[in-house]
Amino acid sequence: MTVPHGSSVILSGIGAYAPEAVLTNDALSRMVETSDEWIRTRTGIRERHIAADGETTSDMSTEAARKAIEDAGLAVQDIELIVVATVTPDMPFPNTACFVQKKLGLGKIPAFDLEAACSGFIYAMDVARSLMLVSGYRHALVIGAEKLSSITNWDDRTTCVLFGDGAGAAVLSLSEEPEVGILDTLLGADGTETGILCVPGGGSASPSTVETIERSLHKIHMQGNQVFKIAVRVMCQSGLNLIERAGLTSQDIDLVVPHQANTRIIEALSSRLDISMDRFEINLDRFGNTSAASIPLALEEAYRKGRLKKGANVLTVAFGGGLTWAASLIRWH
Ligand SMILES: CC(C)(COP(=O)(O)OP(=O)(O)OC[C@H]1O[C@@H](n2cnc3c(N)ncnc32)[C@H](O)[C@@H]1OP(=O)(O)O)[C@@H](O)C(=O)NCCC(=O)NCCS
Repeated sequence: MTVPHGSSVILSGIGAYAPEAVLTNDALSRMVETSDEWIRTRTGIRERHIAADGETTSDMSTEAARKAIEDAGLAVQDIELIVVATVTPDMPFPNTACFVQKKLGLGKIPAFDLEAACSGFIYAMDVARSLMLVSGYRHALVIGAEKLSSITNWDDRTTCVLFGDGAGAAVLSLSEEPEVGILDTLLGADGTETGILCVPGGGSASPSTVETIERSLHKIHMQGNQVFKIAVRVMCQSGLNLIERAGLTSQDIDLVVPHQANTRIIEALSSRLDISMDRFEINLDRFGNTSAASIPLALEEAYRKGRLKKGANVLTVAFGGGLTWAASLIRWH
């Protein structure tokens, strides 16, 4: 199908899903040697949602997707493409998006996963948007969903306090209104830093054995300090580059929806972008770091609170394992 020249891609619907169970810092401090005070002051996190046993990434994705489709005022059958960003697929294959397609009762539309860790949702939005503008898909589901509790080492206090589960979804729709929706996206990666944040076991490099399980190689491994420093640098650079590329200044940005990893990282971003904290959407106190779900979960909260007004310039910015980073500039329709 030919896409009319000047078409844009808007986020026509947003939905979110958080599992019912909440794990507080106090409860965690009964599992490992930590405290509510340490977690709050070093990260900003107070609690996180944890999926039920048997609740999968595709289950959470489907819940969020249903809400996003309803919010867009569409029928399920209007969706023509599904992209799921996740590092915790239901299975290595088939991809999670195929499970979502089945659970939504959708027809035989293309469905695939994209893995760019915590930057995954922005990567997925850009891939979907590009496919829409080239191939003419009118409505696409872009989902960021994670069951990080399934790859968290619950004996490692340096990582287990950080992560949570959840899903966020957006319906992307072609629009003939120019200069709205996703205006620009910046993607990047640094493959020399694959070792500082990873799940080393279970892939072709280190297939599952009794030993890989005993050494917890199927769980998240992270050098927190290193990640912290690079995160601040790349998030600031990509945010600033994107604002400049759009011919805008920091003062033109109405809302920043950052990846929710650590309040101190977000504060550094606020200071270097020269955008005050009241123009940031923050929910990590209640969700922790939910990787690919982080941006859409925060975006959905901003939307529900009425912070996404027509004409508002919204900057989303993320970094994650890979290392990967991504930023997108959205003008709300
Ligand atoms: C993980 C992180 C919160 C750690 O904070 P930090 O200020 O760098 O803390 P450090 O790692 O230097 O550890 C300081 C001390 O606290 C201890 N500590 C670590 N985790 C702890 C916990 N949960 N509770 C109590 N003490 C803890 C350490 O053992 C260390 O003790 P020591 O000084 O006796 O060796 C921080 O590095 C971070 O947020 N990094 C980025 C992580 C991230 O965003 N990852 C996801 C990327 S998408």
